[in-house]
Amino acid sequence: MIDESVNRPHITPQQYEILHGGGAEAAEIAKERLSRRRFLRRSMLAVWGLSATGAVAGALYMLYPNLAGQFGSDLTVGQKTDFPAVKPEQFKLNNAGVFYRQTAKTYLMHLSKDTSFLLNGPNLSDQLDSESVVKDKDGSYWIALYQRCVHLGCTVPFRDDCDSFKCPCHGSHYNVTGEYLDGPAPRSLDRFSLSLSGNDVVVHTGTLNNKVPHPDATTRLIKVPGVSCSV
Ligand code: FES
Repeated sequence: MIDESVNRPHITPQQYEILHGGGAEAAEIAKERLSRRRFLRRSMLAVWGLSATGAVAGALYMLYPNLAGQFGSDLTVGQKTDFPAVKPEQFKLNNAGVFYRQTAKTYLMHLSKDTSFLLNGPNLSDQLDSESVVKDKDGSYWIALYQRCVHLGCTVPFRDDCDSFKCPCHGSHYNVTGEYLDGPAPRSLDRFSLSLSGNDVVVHTGTLNNKVPHPDATTRLIKVPGVSCSV
């Protein structure tokens, strides 16, 4: 509600006299005061309308943030040729088999087609699917592992010296396919959905598979590394 005493335009003593005396001049002054009040009301409505529009836009952004090009969206992390594939025992960080991409918070794993799996036939196909491993048409295998340790969230480094991921916080240990080896982690590493579009390697960082349990003899994909981590 508008406080008329505040918004009413100031009038001179002479105008006051004319107003209270009536006539054409009084009508003109009264008209001017009325139009000022209308102007003030309309200004306040406009300000209120802009504020409400801003609030709605903010709420919509919170619900549907524009993540294009950011973590949480589909990110092209490079070309296939940027990521040479090797067998698991030959992995070297950012050189062969395992490549870190900070924008996607991902370790991109590329296993060669002659990788020795512990499973075969439909059991292998099913397990690859359940662990979000993508088989390329050249026979190689791709995995996009989330960098975050599933124990308490530390970033897990890849260790060339022991051919595996070893968390520095509490020692959780995972092999090159992200499968759990030992330590307090409750499951294997989480992994993003991944697709190959022409030569582009695309990591879908909004789609996370966080349901890969500790492996057992019926589900483990590759053998435990032969070298232990020094610490
Ligand atoms: S956060 Fe990685 S082992 Fe605890």
